[in-house]
Amino acid sequence: MLVLRGGRVIDPSSSLDEVADVVIEKGAITRIGAGAAAGLAGENIRIIDVSGCWVVPGFIDLHVHFREPGQEYKEDISSGLRAAAAGGFTQVCAMPNTRPTNDSRAITEMMVSRAKEAGGTRLHPIGAITKGLGGAELTEMADMREAGAIGVSDDGHCVMNAAVMRRALEYARTFDLVVSQHAEDHDMTAGSLMHEGAISTRLGLRGWPREAEEVIVARDLILAELTGARYHVAHVSSLGSVRLLREAKARGLSVSAEVTPHHLMLTDEALIGYDTACRVNPPLRSDEDREALRNALLDGTIDCIATDHAPHSPLEKDCEFAAAAPGMIGLETAMSALLELVRDDRISARRLVEALSTAPAKIARLSGGTLKSGSAADIAVIDPHARWTVTKDALRSKSHNTPLLGRELMGQVSHTFVDGRLVFER
Ligand code: DOR
Repeated sequence: MLVLRGGRVIDPSSSLDEVADVVIEKGAITRIGAGAAAGLAGENIRIIDVSGCWVVPGFIDLHVHFREPGQEYKEDISSGLRAAAAGGFTQVCAMPNTRPTNDSRAITEMMVSRAKEAGGTRLHPIGAITKGLGGAELTEMADMREAGAIGVSDDGHCVMNAAVMRRALEYARTFDLVVSQHAEDHDMTAGSLMHEGAISTRLGLRGWPREAEEVIVARDLILAELTGARYHVAHVSSLGSVRLLREAKARGLSVSAEVTPHHLMLTDEALIGYDTACRVNPPLRSDEDREALRNALLDGTIDCIATDHAPHSPLEKDCEFAAAAPGMIGLETAMSALLELVRDDRISARRLVEALSTAPAKIARLSGGTLKSGSAADIAVIDPHARWTVTKDALRSKSHNTPLLGRELMGQVSHTFVDGRLVFER
C-alpha cells in the first residue's frame, strides 16, 4: 500500500480541489479524501508526505516526436519516455514522422513493444494518414489500430488534397480513430521561417501567414461536418483558427484542438536574436494570437495542451536560422513553464490540470486523466514552489533544443506514478 499524504489534490474529473490523502493499492486508487489515510500505519505501507504539493492525474500528451525508428541520436523511445515521466506525463501519443514513417502495423507494433520494454510512461502510437506522409495514398488504418494506434496524423505535413482528407476522415470514422491535422497550406508557406508580420520584415525572414493555417482549418471543418469524423487540430497557433473552432463547436461538430506551451508562453519577439531553438512549425505568433489562444484555452474552444516535443540535435540546430530544423522539446518543462499562468491568475490550477490530463484522455478515448477511486494510479506530484534551472544535465531527453536553457523556472514535478509504480522521483 502506498499513501500520498496531505497534498492539494486536484482532480478535474470529479471537481475535487482540496487537501486530501490518496491511498493506492495494487496499482489502483482505492481511497481519496481528507483523512482517507488516517490511522494507517504498518510495515507494508509506504507513506509519502506531499504536503505543500499538488497531487494531480498523470498528464497525457497527444503530441510527441520520439525519433525511433530512424533518428535515435535525437531521441529514442526509452529516453523520450524518461523525459515524459520527469515532466509528470503518464501517457504520450507518438507522432508517425519517424524514419521510416509509422504507416504500418509493423512499425506500430515495434513502437508498442519498445515502449513496453522501457516501462514507465505508457506510449500510444499515432499512425500516418497517408503512406510515407506523401499526402496521396491512405494507410491501412485498421491494421495500425489493431496494433495499438489511437489516432492518425501526417504531422509535420498537412493533408493538402481535400479529396484525400475527405476519404481519410471517412476511413478513420469507420475505425473510430481521431484524425489530427497539421494545418498548413504548404503553397502559402513555401520558404517561410517565422510568423509573417512586422518582426519578420525587420529580421528579413520570410513569413508564414496565420491564414495558411486558417484556410486548412476552415476546409477541414467543412469536411468534418460532411463525414461526422473525430477531427482534431494539432498545435493551433492563430486567432482566426480559434474563431473557426469556436463557431464549429457552437454548432455541435465533433472537433477538438490542442495548443502547445510555447504558443501560449512565447511570441515572435523571441526570434529577434535569431535563436534557432525558437524556430518551430507552426511559428511563434503575435501577442494578439497568444492572447486569443489563452482565452480559447480558458473557455474550452481549445480543449487541451500538447507539448509537440520535437527533439533535434546540435547538427540540426547549431546552424544559421534558415537551415535549422523546426521544433523544440517540451516534456520536461511544460508544467513548470505553464505554472507562470497560474501565478499570474491567467488560468486556474484546475483548468490547467484538466487541459493536461482529463481533456486529452477524452479526445484520444484513453482511460486516465482522473483520480477517481477505482481508477489506475497514474499520478503526478508537483511542488509548485521548487525553483530549478533548465540545464542540459537536468534534462533526461537526449536533445536540449529549448529556448528555456539557462532559465530559472518555478514549480517542478517531484514524483510520477504509473499503475501505482514510482516511475520518476526527483
Ligand atoms: O516544429 C515542429 N517540429 N513542427 C512539426 O510539425 C514537426 C516537428 C518535428 O517533427 O520536428
